[in-house]
Amino acid sequence: MNKYVVTGGAGFIGSALVRGLLRDGASKVAVIDNCLTGYEKNLEEVRASVDFHPVDVRDFDAIAPILRGAEVVFHEAAIPSVPRSINDPVPSHEVNINGTFQLLRAAAAGGVGRVVYAASSSAYGDSEVLPKVERMVPRPKSPYALQKLAGEYYATVFAECFGLETVSLRYFNVFGPRQDPSSPYSGVLSLFMRAILEKHAPAILGDGEQSRDFTYVEDVVDLNLKAARAKGVSGKMYNGGNGGRITLNEAWALLQSIEGVKIAPVYGPARAGDVRHSQADTRAAQADLGYSPRFTFEQGLRLTLDWFRTHPQK
Ligand code: UD1
Repeated sequence: MNKYVVTGGAGFIGSALVRGLLRDGASKVAVIDNCLTGYEKNLEEVRASVDFHPVDVRDFDAIAPILRGAEVVFHEAAIPSVPRSINDPVPSHEVNINGTFQLLRAAAAGGVGRVVYAASSSAYGDSEVLPKVERMVPRPKSPYALQKLAGEYYATVFAECFGLETVSLRYFNVFGPRQDPSSPYSGVLSLFMRAILEKHAPAILGDGEQSRDFTYVEDVVDLNLKAARAKGVSGKMYNGGNGGRITLNEAWALLQSIEGVKIAPVYGPARAGDVRHSQADTRAAQADLGYSPRFTFEQGLRLTLDWFRTHPQK
């Protein structure tokens, strides 16, 4: 029987991945999540098809038996957020670096077929050239960026030294249903969703001309499923983006036009560690993994907005 494990499976991206695996034919998915930033309710209607393990990824003894013999482990568990890693660096270091190390160690010991690791576009930092391509020298600007890059390097080293198949996917600003807007560290589009629906002004940190390759979560799910199966890719890293680039001012303008409202943002100082522009070159993922993003930014935005409208946030 196929056996899949998703760490961080109660989180925004992890829970979408669990649904993707079940849609794809998995009969059961094991989830490891300590619910630090995830919620069991994110798995609501699929809960019966999930083996839920409320344990910490850093706990080798707890995760090793869950991973043993798995075909693919998708490692999504992390403490995300650039500013959080600056304001409170110890927990993000421990989870993002030590947790990833323990996960890889347990996967290697347990004969796991492949680990697909959620890396981050933040590893690129500010590059002169756009789009950002995998061969560029990484320039992490924040503890979070460095932690995610260390995880990527660890994944490659485990492939080389311990014969564990690994693939790293550098996600580019993923957004979609279930992204949690309740924390000061929430992804900007989840905050924009709440602002537009509650008709209050969003905060824009900086001049709003910074840009991101906002990537709809279902494209990232699809990329993961492809990375789980592709041949000859072990130890490698691929961009997981849409390939486009939208400024925050453009994103807010589009939301206003969809909703037919006019609300001026409140501009504040730019954040420490913030990357100015981000855009993925998706050619390697297309060539090696057969990935092809299916959702334009506007399509993803409309789907996300519909979800937030029907799932009011507390
Ligand atoms: C970074 C990574 C991303 C990763 C994420 C994890 C880059 C390019 N991207 O996202 O791959 O998944 O960390 O947390 O490094 N902002 C506002 N108002 C707000 C909140 C944020 O204007 O209320 C701005 C930020 O200053 C930033 C942009 O929106 O310029 C995006 O911020 P955020 O959504 O937090 O993601 P990144 O830090 O870009």
